[in-house]
Amino acid sequence: MNDTLRTIHSLRSNHKFTSEEIPKEALEEIFKACVKAANASARQSYSIVVVGDRGVMKETLGYEGSRALIFCVDYNRIVDAAEHMGYNFTVDGINAFITGSTDAILAAQTAAIAAKSLGIDSLFTNSLHRGDIERIYRRFGLPERYCFPLISLILGYSAETPEYFKGRLEGKGVIHYDGYHRLTGEELDWLVNEYDDPEKRLGVIRDWEERGFTHYLDWFYAVWSVRDKRSVPERVKQFFDLLERAGFLEGFPLQQL
Ligand SMILES: Cc1cc2nc3c(=O)[nH]c(=O)nc-3n(C[C@H](O)[C@H](O)[C@H](O)COP(=O)(O)O)c2cc1C
Repeated sequence: MNDTLRTIHSLRSNHKFTSEEIPKEALEEIFKACVKAANASARQSYSIVVVGDRGVMKETLGYEGSRALIFCVDYNRIVDAAEHMGYNFTVDGINAFITGSTDAILAAQTAAIAAKSLGIDSLFTNSLHRGDIERIYRRFGLPERYCFPLISLILGYSAETPEYFKGRLEGKGVIHYDGYHRLTGEELDWLVNEYDDPEKRLGVIRDWEERGFTHYLDWFYAVWSVRDKRSVPERVKQFFDLLERAGFLEGFPLQQL
């Protein structure tokens, strides 16, 4: 295994970070590396908000580390530069959102890999979207138009060594050679067993049997996936409202929904 693969395979989510701060030089290396990620039309249609105040991190994201990076889909820099030069740049609705999200996510994962290569641990969290997303706009002064906070990455030095690395499903149903293959009943039975296999370490918990479930996926579908379901309509509505306000749903026939 080469060094790059070793770094990728040593990635894992960490939940508690020490009080040690990331040196400025290391942070700069992470930024230099993450903006190297591929990006549509060489536009880098994202912004990264760097949060250094642990109290603010805890309050807004629910986790704290040395830094939190909030990756936002963002066209404001591009629109402003166009206006500055006397041009009109059209942010083309959902297309812009999908493209900007892709740019932002590629930069985010590159940041996590670069950080790990420097001995810095991380946690991706979408806790940005838990509760009122407006709080993120307000707290960090995000522009309402053409900007949406997508994902945050907490960086720091892990305070604990997790017992094991989580595994991944990597074959059938994930990798489709020469076209899409929908899993058959037999293959779905195999899938259920994969999640039950303690050696594979798939899934978010390991003690599903002690919790009275026959299969991990029984717990996953019956318990984990139905959390917070009561708030789903409000959350979906807020996503739509904010994306509409941001201009990412322009041209979309909302009245037909
Ligand atoms: C979009 C996204 C959101 C996530 N949100 C959280 C979160 O809020 N809290 C958390 O503990 N882990 C979160 N994770 C981490 C995943 O739970 C984790 O990547 C997965 O369980 C696999 O574990 P590993 O990263 O240690 O291999 C998130 C990951 C992603 C990609």
